[in-house]
Amino acid sequence: MMSIGRTTPRIISAGLALGLGLLSGTPGALAGDPVTPFTIVDGYTVPDSLTETPGDPERGRKWVINRKLGNCLSCHEMPIPEEQFHGQTGPALYGVADVYDEGELRLRLVDPKALNPYSMMPSFHKVDGLHRVLSGFEGKPILSAQQVEDVIAYLMTLRDTSKRR
Ligand code: HEC
Repeated sequence: MMSIGRTTPRIISAGLALGLGLLSGTPGALAGDPVTPFTIVDGYTVPDSLTETPGDPERGRKWVINRKLGNCLSCHEMPIPEEQFHGQTGPALYGVADVYDEGELRLRLVDPKALNPYSMMPSFHKVDGLHRVLSGFEGKPILSAQQVEDVIAYLMTLRDTSKRR
């Protein structure tokens, strides 16, 4: 989003993350922390990109497939015919870009529990307030800020014309 005063919301969001972290007694994202602070606006969207570099849809498709990164196919059907197993825990993602814009997709990736506290979907770019974190993953987000942006860029290619496999 190229808007005037682009840096201001970032500073506010960094402050917010730190402030909330202090309030809840958990460390917020500090300088050097791999998690980029984000701001949820009106409870349904994270409109600001996490990175300066735009997401790359081809790389995003790889992160989605990678079983150690997105592993999205374990829960979602997607137009990725070369992969055999597609789970059905979550909704199929064909045409998801017709339903949500980038900001709405970003919130669903970084903090799905902000929308549904009982969500089965992992928070892909969050380290505070998580439960049952796999050993070795403590303090590290599953996807880096750039990987989140790449995955969003890929999801934005999933229009209605996406063929079922
Ligand atoms: C462990 C299962 C699981 C994994 C892994 C998972 N999701 Fe989800 N996802 C869900 C569920 C369940 C929902 C339904 C909403 C909810 O419960 O939060 C959902 C909802 C969504 C939605 C909103 C879809 C809609 O139609 O409302 C998107 C977009 C999405 N997931 C993308 C992804 C991407 C991209 C990945 C990989 C980076 C991923 N998910 C990984 C379970 C998962």
